[in-house]
Amino acid sequence: MEMQGRDNKAYFNDAGDGAWSNFSREMDSIKRSQKRNCRIIGLLLFLLSVVILALVAVAGTQARTIRRLNDRKGLITHPNVTFASYAGDRELDGLTYGGSMFRGSGFWTPRENLPASLTDHSSVGIGELVYIIGGANASGAVLDQFLVYDTTLHNYTTLSPIPEPRYRFGAAVLDNKIYVIGGRKDSNETDPPASNASLSVATYIYDTTQGTWSKGADILEPQSDPCAAALNGKVYLVGGYDANYGLLAKVQVYDPASDSWSYAPDMPTPRGDLMCAAFEGEIYVLGGYTGDTTDPFSRKMESFNPNTQKWTTRPDLLTSRGDGAVAVLPTRKALLVIGGEGHYRNNDLFKYGKHSNEVYFATDGTWVEKALIPNARFRTAAAESGGLVYVSGGVDTCINQGTQACPALDTTAVFLDVDHPHVYIYLKDEAYNDNAALTTYPL
Ligand SMILES: *[C@@H]1O[C@H](CO)[C@@H](O)[C@H](O)[C@H]1NC(C)=O
Ligand SMILES: *[C@@H]1O[C@H](CO)[C@@H](O)[C@H](O)[C@H]1NC(C)=O
Ligand SMILES: *[C@@H]1O[C@H](CO)[C@@H](O)[C@H](O)[C@H]1NC(C)=O
Ligand SMILES: *[C@@H]1O[C@H](CO)[C@@H](O)[C@H](O)[C@H]1NC(C)=O
Ligand SMILES: *[C@@H]1O[C@H](CO)[C@@H](O)[C@H](O)[C@H]1NC(C)=O
Repeated sequence: MEMQGRDNKAYFNDAGDGAWSNFSREMDSIKRSQKRNCRIIGLLLFLLSVVILALVAVAGTQARTIRRLNDRKGLITHPNVTFASYAGDRELDGLTYGGSMFRGSGFWTPRENLPASLTDHSSVGIGELVYIIGGANASGAVLDQFLVYDTTLHNYTTLSPIPEPRYRFGAAVLDNKIYVIGGRKDSNETDPPASNASLSVATYIYDTTQGTWSKGADILEPQSDPCAAALNGKVYLVGGYDANYGLLAKVQVYDPASDSWSYAPDMPTPRGDLMCAAFEGEIYVLGGYTGDTTDPFSRKMESFNPNTQKWTTRPDLLTSRGDGAVAVLPTRKALLVIGGEGHYRNNDLFKYGKHSNEVYFATDGTWVEKALIPNARFRTAAAESGGLVYVSGGVDTCINQGTQACPALDTTAVFLDVDHPHVYIYLKDEAYNDNAALTTYPL
C-alpha cells in the first residue's frame, strides 16, 4: 500500500518537469519500440518473401528438370543411359528398362513374433485385422490353427480352428468371408504311389461378422499349392500341383450365389507355388514353380479378365520367385511381391528365401525393386492392412532336409512404402540383367 502511494505521488502529485520528462521519455521509448517492431516485421516479411521466392525458384527448377526428363535431353551425358517416365517409354527403340531412380525405397520393421513358428500358411487382411490361417509348425505337423493379429493393439488371438488341418492351400476374402480352399490335409506327400489322399477338395468359409465356419461345395479337382483371389462376387482358385506334382494351369471359380464351382479358361503358363491378387479389375497371377531347366522359378505375370474371359501377359517380374507373398497397395494402384524361393545353383536340395521385393505400378506398367526384407523367407504369407503390408512366418534357408521339415520362422515384418516421382532409367544397346549378381549373392 505504501509503495503504491509513493508511486502515484511521483506521477500525478509531483507537478513540474520531473513528471513531464518521465512521460516524454516513456513516449520516446514507445516510439523507439514501434520503430523496432516495424523493422522486425519488415525483416520477417523480407525473409518470408525470400523463402517464397526460393520455393518458387525450386519449384521452377523441378518443373524444368521434369520437363527435361520427359524430353530426355541434356540431363545425362552417358550416351547409353536415358531417364524416362511412364510405361509408354518402354516401347522406345533400342532401350531396355534399367530400373527406377528410386530403387530400394520403403521401410521394413519387425512386428510381434507369431505365437509359434509357422510355414505354408495363408494370410488375409480385413480392416485393421490380419488373419493367419492354417500352415505347418516347426515339426512339420499340419495345423487347423486360425489366428488373428490386431495391427493396432499388436497382439494375436486364437479363433475357432479350421474344420480340418490345412496347408499349401488358397485363401481369399469376399464380402467379409474368408475362403479356405484345397491344399493339403497332411504332410504325407512323399508317400509312394502318389495319391489324392493328402489333398483336400473342401471349401471352408469363415464368416468374420458371425465368427463361424461353414462348408461350401467341394472343388472340382484337388490342387495343392494353388493361389486364390476374389473379384466381382466370385472366388478364383488358380494353378498348383496335382497329386504327382504335375503342374496345373486350371482355374476353378466359386459362385457363392449358387454354391458351385466351375472352370474358367486355363492360365497360359502352368505353375504351382504361384501368387495371386485381385487387382485393377482382373485376377493377377505371379511367379511360381515351372520346373524350367535354366531357372525352375518363374518371372511371369498374367492376368485374367472375368468380363472378357481372356488372359493377358503382363510385364515380367524383375526376379524369378515361387512361394513368396503378394499384396495389393490399393492407394498406389500397385502390387507388392515379397520374398519367395530360389534354388542355389539350380540345385533343389539347396532352397533359399529371397530378400528382394518389388512393386508393380499399374499406371506405368513397370516393376521397381523395393527395400530388401531383413529376414529372407519363402512359404510365407502377407496381407495388407491400412496401407501397410504384414508378412508372417515362412521358412529360412533349407539345405537337404530329407524328410525333416525346413526351419520354420516365427518372425514377422511390416512394410511401409514411400511415394516417389515416376522416374525410370533406360539403357541403350545394353541388356539389363537383374539376375546377373544373383549367382554370387542370392537375393
Ligand atoms: C506341432 O504340432 C504337433 C501336433 O499338434 C505337436 O505334436 C508338435 O509338438 C508341434 N511341434 C511344435 C514344434 O510345436
Ligand atoms: C490385446 O491387447 C488389448 C489391449 O492391451 C487387450 O485388451 C487384449 O486382451 C489383448 N488380446 C490378447 C489376445 O492378448
Ligand atoms: C499320413 O502318414 C501317417 C504316418 O505315415 C499315417 O499315420 C496317416 O494315416 C497318414 N495320413 C493320411 C491321411 O494318409
Ligand atoms: C486325383 O484326382 C483327380 C481329379 O479327380 C484325378 O484326375 C486323378 O487321377 C487323381 N490322381 C490320383 C493319383 O489318384
Ligand atoms: C554404348 O553402347 C555401345 C553399343 O553397345 C557400346 O559399343 C559402347 O561402348 C557403349 N558406350 C559406353 C560409353 O558404354
